[in-house]
Amino acid sequence: MVSRLRLGVNIDHVATIRNARGGDHPDPVRAAEIVAAVGGDGITAHLREDRRHIRDDDLQRIQAATDLPLNLEMAATEEMLRIALRHKPHAACIVPENREERTTEGGLDAAGLHNRLAPLVTRLVDEGIRVSLFIEADPRQLEAAMRLGAQVVEFHTGEYANAEGAKREAELRRISDMAALAVKNGIEPHAGHGLTYDNVQPIAAIPQLAELNIGHYLVGEAVFVGLEAAVRRMRDLMDDAR
Ligand code: PXP
Repeated sequence: MVSRLRLGVNIDHVATIRNARGGDHPDPVRAAEIVAAVGGDGITAHLREDRRHIRDDDLQRIQAATDLPLNLEMAATEEMLRIALRHKPHAACIVPENREERTTEGGLDAAGLHNRLAPLVTRLVDEGIRVSLFIEADPRQLEAAMRLGAQVVEFHTGEYANAEGAKREAELRRISDMAALAVKNGIEPHAGHGLTYDNVQPIAAIPQLAELNIGHYLVGEAVFVGLEAAVRRMRDLMDDAR
């Protein structure tokens, strides 16, 4: 069992609120500082092609403001590769990105995109950036991630979060089985998407998982209780589940 499950806080939606008025407030950098002060383990940010939340200058400002590792979520494009190589985040999580989607709707097709991903993964790994692939908990995708040389896979928990009853149990088993298989094959498994106070504990209890990345719910809760209290409560729930 990985003893302490890390919590990466995705601060994209602080930037979404800022961008709604086009000014500087609320600043995602301040959110990153609060996450650091409250014992979060990392900052996750997704620089989208349309820059709808995090913007290019935010990356450098976040890196300058805290010592927490930055996990840069990025599409598999030349533009994003250039940006990642310039900023050298601790980790790069390659995600699928469709222009019209509201959020990252499913996992990356690491198997189908092998030829496109292979040079990208190599460039990132060669620069010392830890590469994570955001995939469905599926043996074919895990095997593809291994072939690509990714050090980390992040399992998309959206299906789990949206399911109820027996379907949710089945989703949980799928993620749990794949986390065990990942560790057996030397890959570090993470998970994220759609996690809330209500659904985080069964995921946090999967012993092989090393990190959860949680954003939208925490930023939403922060509106009511503040980011510090929201992160603390999520941390407590995760710890209690282990
Ligand atoms: N992990 C990855 C790879 C993501 O792309 C996202 C955002 O879609 C998250 C975690 C966080 O998801 P959420 O905002 O639903 O907590």
